This record gives sequence, structure tokens and C-alpha cells, in this order.
Amino acid sequence: MEIVVRPDAEAVAALAARLIADRLGARPELVLGLATGRTMERVYDHLVALGPDFSRCRTFNLDEYIGIPPESEQSYRHYMEENLFRRVGIDPGRTHLLDGMAADLVAEAEAYERKIRDAGGIDLQLLGIGESGHIGFNEPLSALMSRTREKALTLTTRRQNAAMFGGDPERVPARALTMGVGTILDTRELLLVATGSAKAPILAKALEGPVTAMVTASALQLHPRCKVIIDEAAARELGQRDYYDWVFANEPEWAPYRG
Ligand code: F6R
Repeated sequence: MEIVVRPDAEAVAALAARLIADRLGARPELVLGLATGRTMERVYDHLVALGPDFSRCRTFNLDEYIGIPPESEQSYRHYMEENLFRRVGIDPGRTHLLDGMAADLVAEAEAYERKIRDAGGIDLQLLGIGESGHIGFNEPLSALMSRTREKALTLTTRRQNAAMFGGDPERVPARALTMGVGTILDTRELLLVATGSAKAPILAKALEGPVTAMVTASALQLHPRCKVIIDEAAARELGQRDYYDWVFANEPEWAPYRG
């Protein structure tokens, strides 16, 4: 794992977007794993501005609420259309999201795993982290080997996501479909993006604490190619900051991204 700390949320989004655009440039048929949420809005703004070619890539989103139709503005399908898909003109047939309205959620989850496999696996997965420590919607105690499935959301997550539901956590769906921690760990490269002081305590646990199902983001420590890009506010509680800064300043892989 490599941790890069940038001064603010704007610089974080700019760097994350450049990395994604570079991967797309190097491999136009990239299989790209996507996330939703407030953090990603800025990342997608920067990505759209960089203008990489999405015509040959395929995308798979991490998660979707159960019981929210795709045309609802509260759905993650709608979020993706608004924040990325429509803006980059990607063929909708190349984008994949779980169907939270599926009559058989087990079959839907299994079919999603199959589609990812048929696409040759995910090359680069973009991730945010929830205040509960989740990646995707893998809430505490999600098995670290879990696959795509239905998951009950914690109150912490429903509070975090209440803005789209009139500010009322009770109106946030109680359940979602999500890629499993094991599904996420299968991807070839991971990119976690986080900003703001609210994420500082959980990031310290996830990045520097023990690997535990109580903080599913800690499973990223097991992945051989995981990059974490966070801002100063989110990095506040990290203990090994000097080392992370030294790596960013000195490792050749980061040279194009300094400055
Ligand atoms: C969203 C997702 C979540 C979010 C996380 C952070 O598809 O998978 O894990 O990435 O909850 O959300 P924000 O960016 O809104 O703080």
C-alpha cells in the first residue's frame, strides 16, 4: 500500500483523476470499477475535464440500494449518469450496476460476479471509505472473503448518506447490494480516495491498524497494488506520515504526479 497526502480535496481529486485517465490512456479497453458518494463527485469533475476516451472501456459499480428504481434520483445508476456516464458519452451497454429492484437478489448478485469474470476481471477499482470503515457497502463484520451480495446498512452509513433522502436516516434504504470484500480484493489495482476530517479516525484504523472485519477497509492492506490518496484533514491521525511523504517524493512511479 502507498499513501499519498495532498493539501486539500481539490488536489486529491485532481491526482486521482490523473491516475485513472493515465490507466485508460495506457489501456483503452480497461475494466474500471467505480464508486459513488460525495468524494467521487470532485474526482469525476476532474476526470471529465481531462477528457480520456471511454469508448472501449467497461465499468462496474460497487453497489446499489435495494428498492430504489434506477430512474430515481436517489439511485446510484442516476448518480453515475449525472456525474460521469452522460458527461463522457460512454455507451450505456458498457456500464454495469447492480439492480436493486431485482426480484431475485441472490441471482442478481451471482450474475454480477459472472459478468465481472466474463469481462476478464476489474483492472482498476476506485473506492471511497465510509465512516463505518466500509468499502462498497461492506459494513463491519462483513467477511473479508465475501462476494457480491445483499447487506444491511449500519445507522452510521444511513446517517452519512441521509442528504439524498431529505436528511432523514430512516428514509435511507436499510439494505443494499454490494460487491464483497473478496470481490474488491480480486481487482488488479485499487485506488482509495478520502477527504475531510470526518474520515481521519477511521482512516487511521483502516490504514495503520490491524486487519479486521470490523473495519473492512483494513483488508486493503492485503492487496499488493493499493494506492490511497487523501488530504491533510483526513491524514491528521496517521502515525507514519513522514515515511508516506518520503515515498511520494522519491519513488520513480510517482515522479509524473509530483509538482
Ligand atoms: C459508494 C460506496 C461507499 C462510499 C463511501 C464514502 O458507491 O461504495 O463506500 O465510497 O461511503 O462516501 P462519501 O464519499 O460520500 O463520503
